[in-house]
Amino acid sequence: MSTPERISADLVICRLAQLATPGGETGQPLRGAALDEVEVHSGDMWIAAYAGEIVAVGHGHEIRELLDLDDSAVIIDAPGLVAVPGLIDCHTHACFAGDRVEEFDQRSRGASYEDIHASGGGILSTVTATRAASQPDLTAITRRHIAAMLEHGTTTVEVKSGYGLDVETENSMLRAIQESGYESAAHVMATVLAAHAVPAEAESADAYIQLCIDEILPDIVEWGLAEAADVFVEGGAFDVDQARRYLEAARDHGLALRLHGDQFSEIGAIDLAIELGARSIDHLEATGPEGVAKLAASDVVGVVLPTAALTLGRPLPPARALVDAGGLLALATDFNPGSSPCDSLPAVMHLACTQLRLSPAEALSAVTVNAAHVLGIGERAGRLRVGQRADIVLLDVPDWRYLAYRLGSEGIKHVIVEGVWALEG
Ligand code: NIG
Ligand code: FE
Repeated sequence: MSTPERISADLVICRLAQLATPGGETGQPLRGAALDEVEVHSGDMWIAAYAGEIVAVGHGHEIRELLDLDDSAVIIDAPGLVAVPGLIDCHTHACFAGDRVEEFDQRSRGASYEDIHASGGGILSTVTATRAASQPDLTAITRRHIAAMLEHGTTTVEVKSGYGLDVETENSMLRAIQESGYESAAHVMATVLAAHAVPAEAESADAYIQLCIDEILPDIVEWGLAEAADVFVEGGAFDVDQARRYLEAARDHGLALRLHGDQFSEIGAIDLAIELGARSIDHLEATGPEGVAKLAASDVVGVVLPTAALTLGRPLPPARALVDAGGLLALATDFNPGSSPCDSLPAVMHLACTQLRLSPAEALSAVTVNAAHVLGIGERAGRLRVGQRADIVLLDVPDWRYLAYRLGSEGIKHVIVEGVWALEG
């Protein structure tokens, strides 16, 4: 009889009442009906980690005797608690200066987002505030936003630039995002969204896209400040040809591609995302049945942002139809000062269940494995499984579905990032 192998561990979470994790194959996103596949294990569940990676998951009687604990090992005795994977927010604009509370007030009285944008407010007012801020200020603000997200269970967050719209401020934003990652417990990934809006000083959208291609993208790539590039495809922002030129240049620099598309109108963003093999197309409030069918048949993830749709009073995106048609769906906060002043993925999950007709299991998969896939980290994040990063959320609730069920006070007790205790509630 062979002796079972010993398992070295420097973190052990023991006696969990329940553990929920998306199923499927490690490294693979969950498509269509598979999005609903969450494995739930109950009664005396243990998780062990070593050097930031999960090394064992199972019932106490299966793994307790196999563990070799470091002298300095952290033991979290968690009777009654519930574990889920650390949440992954794959679409935020968490680096910005100022706020848009005045615009919020105007919209509450009937002004539209597009009108505010057309009169130089909206995104461009945040551009003015962000250009006036120092890089240390931007770092401090972003770090504060990420700390708040961590309290809602977010252990990985993507943050976009896009309020600089010139070489200097796009660079400064992305440096601030990078620094906030060094200073935060959560993992931070940066996306260059230089093509977010046409800055007031630009001669035309074409001229600004050329500046992005000739100067902004090369500068960001030279300094290694972003993993991905994003563009806002919309009337009043950039058309498909401009977006194609920008994204092709980004792809030539080795960046992954993302698009904001179909937020207000369908002008070909889905076709472009598919043509270029983008990681995702985000928003989709205006997507009709034909767009859903095309997207569902592709490998591009549809990232749906329910708080942005609800905040702006837009039609809700066809998340249910995309999943039913066999597509890839992720959910994110879109946290930003204008269209989505929401930093909570559990709130997004709740809205996905109540407004988009997703199940709690689908919502969990959409903010873990599928969000990880959008960020290109599916091999190491999104599931509570051996070999994955030990990013873990512990809830003091009777059932993991409370994460989506409760709107506010979702019961987050501990957050662990790469095997390190990042938050004790
Ligand atoms: O994803 N649609 C474009 N961009 C952002 C909004 C940013 C802002 O309003 O500041 C979005 O909703
Ligand atoms: Fe956005």
